[in-house]
Amino acid sequence: MVTTEHLLPVYGARPLLVERGEGCYVFDAAGRQYLDFITGIGVNALGYGHPALVAAIREQAALCVHSSNLHRHPYQEALAARLAAWSGLDLVFLSNSGTEAMEAALKAARARANATGRRQQRIVALEGSFHGRSAGSLAVTGQGKYRDPFGPLTPDVVFVGVNDVASLRGAANEDTIAIVAETILGEGGIVPLTAEFLEAIRELATQRDALWIADETQCGLGRTGERFAYQRFGLLPDVVVTAKPLGGGLPLGATMFSAEAGAALGQGMHGTTFGGGPLACRVALAFLEETERLLPAIAEMGAYFLERLGGRGRGLMVGLELDGPGAPVVERAREEGLIINCTQGNVLRFLPPYVVGWTEIDFACDVVRASCRAD
Ligand SMILES: Cc1ncc(COP(=O)(O)O)c(C=O)c1O
Repeated sequence: MVTTEHLLPVYGARPLLVERGEGCYVFDAAGRQYLDFITGIGVNALGYGHPALVAAIREQAALCVHSSNLHRHPYQEALAARLAAWSGLDLVFLSNSGTEAMEAALKAARARANATGRRQQRIVALEGSFHGRSAGSLAVTGQGKYRDPFGPLTPDVVFVGVNDVASLRGAANEDTIAIVAETILGEGGIVPLTAEFLEAIRELATQRDALWIADETQCGLGRTGERFAYQRFGLLPDVVVTAKPLGGGLPLGATMFSAEAGAALGQGMHGTTFGGGPLACRVALAFLEETERLLPAIAEMGAYFLERLGGRGRGLMVGLELDGPGAPVVERAREEGLIINCTQGNVLRFLPPYVVGWTEIDFACDVVRASCRAD
């Protein structure tokens, strides 16, 4: 009998024991099927057992799983080129997670400011944001419940309200070296930034010689029906952070830089043992190829889902704010065969797989409606 007694108790109760997955569904040890509309928090974006990912994993696992960054391998440079083309930026650093991808971005902002002798260094970030659990990422995460137990963190981070252009203008003073923002807040409750706010970020970052760091860990890589969520606005950040679905379930993060921003991190200034290994990179190339084809379907299915469910979001990133707590609804939905999650206490979060169809969306909407009614 497996027990949890030796696991550090950082996670809450986890009622489901997942044994396997297939397409949009996972199965528990008793063989019961669940429609998965949270997909490992946005990671299993092509669903489970996607043939292109399975083939890439099988073939590469037999050849070489890890080579370290002492050597080149056939897939890292190809993936960097693909991500540069996807993002519109120039240079790519590959790591293992969203947190690490954010660390690379923050280190570049610091190194760049230090190189030009800027003594006062302010970072502007958003209230309610989430950027990861490492010390740097935590410092720019705008939620006390994650940050407070671990202070002191990086000083001089100023938080402004989401879509509050006046506060942003007030906070982004001449000391500002970076403005960090999720294009659509994920953990913060699925809150899209407005065009006006994003335009102000771009304008102020340029004016202050600061980096606009767009965190697209949750909303990027096809999730909204665009390659990256910022692309809808015709704006280009200086640095883009992403991870989650990139490695098809294997840990892989990426930080994309403009040539000028990336120039701050020279040889020996940053690195990783595991990041950008041959297995993860080969799978990522397969993931991007499949996702490219699916972009119109993601937009179409997302629009249908949003229309049927209500709520807010874009593409297949949707949140439904409830009047009361979401946890009981999540539990009832699971009992009815649908996996979702709740963030901020009362926002149901949906990150369905990109391969979702009408039938799954209809089923999910019916279950959610019934689960909310049961309150
Ligand atoms: C927007 C955003 N940034 C960063 C992270 C951290 O990513 P990871 O858990 O892979 O370190 C997350 C994770 O949920 C996220 O949603």
